[in-house]
Amino acid sequence: MSRIVYVNGDYVPEESATVSVFDRGFLFADGVYEVTSVLDGRILDFEGHVERLERSLGELGMEMPVPAGELLEIHRRLIAENDLREGTIYLQVTRGAADRDFIYPAAGTGQTLVLFTQARADLVDNPMAAKGLSIISIPDERWGRRDIKTVQLLYPSMGKMMAKAAGANDAWMVEDGHVTEGTSNNAYIVKDGTIVTRQLGNEILHGITRKAVLRFAREAQMKVEERPFTIEEAMAADEAFVTSASTFVLPVVEIDGTAVGSGTPGPVATRLREIYLDESRKSAI
Ligand code: PDD
Repeated sequence: MSRIVYVNGDYVPEESATVSVFDRGFLFADGVYEVTSVLDGRILDFEGHVERLERSLGELGMEMPVPAGELLEIHRRLIAENDLREGTIYLQVTRGAADRDFIYPAAGTGQTLVLFTQARADLVDNPMAAKGLSIISIPDERWGRRDIKTVQLLYPSMGKMMAKAAGANDAWMVEDGHVTEGTSNNAYIVKDGTIVTRQLGNEILHGITRKAVLRFAREAQMKVEERPFTIEEAMAADEAFVTSASTFVLPVVEIDGTAVGSGTPGPVATRLREIYLDESRKSAI
């Protein structure tokens, strides 16, 4: 069954959706994106994703292609058109099409806005929630502005391939001896009841799920420390986990072949996954 996707104001079957070969997203990775989850046909954390989109665009000298309210309507129409109950919505904004030139084209050339849905039956019933992820560590070789959610995902993609080749589920990236984040998620460890995750900065993406999960953790009187940690510290931790919009909270049970804690999903990650699912379902729109 063909999906209905959104391209620059039109809702069209995916086969007839096109963007220009001159699109700067295609030629320069000159664009940003968001991935938002849908449960029970409703959107999770919409406001946070739109706020970050606006920030990413601003950092690249771009504006919102349409107002936030219209973005919500587009999300909702795609959910309805595709009868999406559980899955994700991918949104991409690029600087648009212009003859190839490193210099940005003059404003007003017209941005490209694309959104599409991806139905998933395993967002909530993710088998990895019970099994836990095995991860490897790899050097962080991305560019320096990881706080901007750009579409240049080649290194994260290479990282996932390195993990796959090593028989692992994912990779955590390490820079100057400390973990930055996962290839497509934020990284955490738990030691003696304290949750440790790297502080916000240009080195990591400011995860929307991270923000919500840290708030829920603090509300549940859990101790949180935002600071860098090493892979050795992670291997010696009681628990480890990751967060992202499409995985919520998933435990990490093995790092570079070493079991974390008991080698099974820990109570903190399991509890935070439950709280995140309950709370974000309640506030979904
Ligand atoms: N990835 N760090 C990186 C490098 C990411 O790519 C992501 C999200 C996150 C988590 O952010 P959030 O909680 O806002 O999803 C952290 C998305 C899901 C993706 O690329 O598919």
